Amino acid sequence: MEEHDDRKQWPLVVLISSPFHGHMTPTLQLATTLHAKGFRIAIAHSSLNPPNPSNHPSDFTFCPLSDNLTAIDNSGSFTGFINAINTNCRAPFKELLIRFISEGNKSIVVIFDNVMHFAGIVAVDLNLPAIVFRTSSAAYFPAFLARQQLHQQGRFLEQDFVMQEVVPNHHPIRYKDLPFSNAPIEDWKQLVSNFSQQAHPSAVIWNTVKFLENESLTRIHNHLHVPVFAVGPLHKITPSPSIGYHQEDTSCISWLDKQPPKSVVYISFGSLATMDAKVLTEMAWGLMKSDQRFLWAVRPGLVSGSEWLELLPKGFVEETRERGLVVKWAPQKEVLAHFAVGGFWSHCGWNSCLESISLGVVMICQPFGVDQGVNARYVSYVWKIGLELERVEREEIERMIRRVMVDDEGEEMKVRINDMKEMVIEALGKRGSSQESLEGLVKKNDRIKK
Ligand code: UDX
Repeated sequence: MEEHDDRKQWPLVVLISSPFHGHMTPTLQLATTLHAKGFRIAIAHSSLNPPNPSNHPSDFTFCPLSDNLTAIDNSGSFTGFINAINTNCRAPFKELLIRFISEGNKSIVVIFDNVMHFAGIVAVDLNLPAIVFRTSSAAYFPAFLARQQLHQQGRFLEQDFVMQEVVPNHHPIRYKDLPFSNAPIEDWKQLVSNFSQQAHPSAVIWNTVKFLENESLTRIHNHLHVPVFAVGPLHKITPSPSIGYHQEDTSCISWLDKQPPKSVVYISFGSLATMDAKVLTEMAWGLMKSDQRFLWAVRPGLVSGSEWLELLPKGFVEETRERGLVVKWAPQKEVLAHFAVGGFWSHCGWNSCLESISLGVVMICQPFGVDQGVNARYVSYVWKIGLELERVEREEIERMIRRVMVDDEGEEMKVRINDMKEMVIEALGKRGSSQESLEGLVKKNDRIKK
């Protein structure tokens, strides 16, 4: 009993994630990292897409919030969904925090995924420190602000600008790279109005590395005037147990074991992207024509209106059987770490970019939306560790795969990404920037009793 009461003197970190794979995974990685530093951890999450508690330390408290949602797109549009989750989770989250306070927890810190902005408002209402956790690249933030500014000026992307031109003061970001460049204007308005209600955070945590995004991090600091902690890549700090949303097909590892070194291009577009059948067909033809080995993660639901592989060109699987494998969901980090993998054709979700950089795998970038256009621009134009596929056509795909996997150009990119991989290791080491940032974050919230 005494020990139990004593623990209440330890800081309790309440983390809240949105129910997306690319957000939940790094949030749980951050939770595990802070747990190892001596914090008590509570994870507040929507009832939709709950994480699997059994994959995490037994003293994590998992707190489902009733949200009345049944699927990610259940309200017809993505922004509608974000609105609904923020509205529905607010009251249960407040009840939860009041309960934690009334139970005698001495020091409570709320760390919330920026998508779940209601959590910041509730925390500030209750006089608790509210720290935002961003799972996207830092470069996404100024790009989002630029997009917002255009909106405030009543200017429309496709109508008022040449999409290939660079946005003034945002070099090298082009109009086409800006977030939500294809979103219907009503969706965008709703999103901006949502985010304008955010409480001002007491600090921001970014799953990124200083050397990669120093300029963007400085811009963010100058804009928000609060401490900015770049603590990534979190998947390298803590082993990340599966959140249990998808079953990994580990058979692809024994298949990779039989392939020559650096011969396989791995293809995956993360957990949310969707494409139409024409894109899938061009990709399949490009792969066939490239004559390279491949491992392709085709998530059921990736192609609108299909179950799984039925829309692939006839004979694709048979024809590529000797050199290709298609799975539903791959153990991505293990795949990228495998000796046989020489390239990653990706949608450039931020987790995928961080995983690729930290494992030294060059990329082909095919962004779909949100922060991916910005990330792809950095990968291809700034860091020069990948190529952007601007036209999803079979001949172009064939060329891209060869440029990355076979040509000297690919070799040069590999040298650069291997240097970056080393710099990531350095950032995570003693006195490295991410490690120092983490210590700074701990100090800010800490009165750890061991
Ligand atoms: C989303 C957004 O789309 C992304 O732009 C944002 O930066 C984070 O949230 P998602 O689209 O799922 O994420 O992409 P990404 O960030 O790359 O995360 C996907 C995660 O799923 C990665 O950690 C990856 O390792 C994992 N994954 C993906 C697998 O383990 N297996 C797969 O087959 C595919």
